[in-house]
Amino acid sequence: MDPFSTVIRTASRQQHTEAETSAFMSGLLDGRLGREAFTRYTEQLWVVYEALESGPPDLARDPVAGPFVRPELMRLAALERDLAHLRGPDWRAALRTLPATRAYADRIAGCARTWPAGWVAHHYTRYLGDLSGGQVVRDRAERAWGFVRKGDGVRFYVFDRIPNPAAFKRSYRHLLDTVRADEPERGRMVDECRRAFALNTGMFRELAEEFGVST
Ligand code: HEM
Repeated sequence: MDPFSTVIRTASRQQHTEAETSAFMSGLLDGRLGREAFTRYTEQLWVVYEALESGPPDLARDPVAGPFVRPELMRLAALERDLAHLRGPDWRAALRTLPATRAYADRIAGCARTWPAGWVAHHYTRYLGDLSGGQVVRDRAERAWGFVRKGDGVRFYVFDRIPNPAAFKRSYRHLLDTVRADEPERGRMVDECRRAFALNTGMFRELAEEFGVST
């Protein structure tokens, strides 16, 4: 039987391709979208990470979720610095949450409260993606919109405390392989991961509509 890290990656591969090639993502990468779209995306990410990282404090002591609560991954402070740079000191008052973003954040918050294994599925979908494809987005943003390399505006994509992302991803996959969940529960985690991808795609769809891009 394949290790769980392989099962979850394989099960979400198709949806990963959809997210990667969505109109919004490709628009950011091919130059059809500009700094304002990137800023709107960063705002939505703040809402998502607020839900992911401000969950109940006892999640850290939960036998399933606990091993995944890793301070070196935390993104909220970096997002706040980015938004202060992108929007200015009043970024919070100006932030408009899209309906799809609200739905995504509510789902994460619900899992954080009542279903730690579901929260882990969301954790995997975001952080492993940020450590991988996120770097492509950062590179594009730095070159296209003149951010200082790894500086304000793109700090979300910079994991200062993870000097070796490949080694980190290996240890993360080990955590997934040894997660305290039986087979049926692992199956539900895979379903939640697919749901997490769909929620991301929904957010990209609304952002694409806002900026009038289509594939
Ligand atoms: C421009 C968009 C994107 C690009 C170019 C991209 C690219 C990549 C690449 C190259 C990997 C493989 C890294 C490796 O094997 O170490 C990866 C993995 C991953 N990506 Fe993306 N990605 C993008 C968007 C997304 C989005 C929107 C999500 C979900 C929110 C996501 C979630 C993931 C996850 C969970 C993995 C880890 C798969 C695994 O090894 O288990 N990616 N991405």
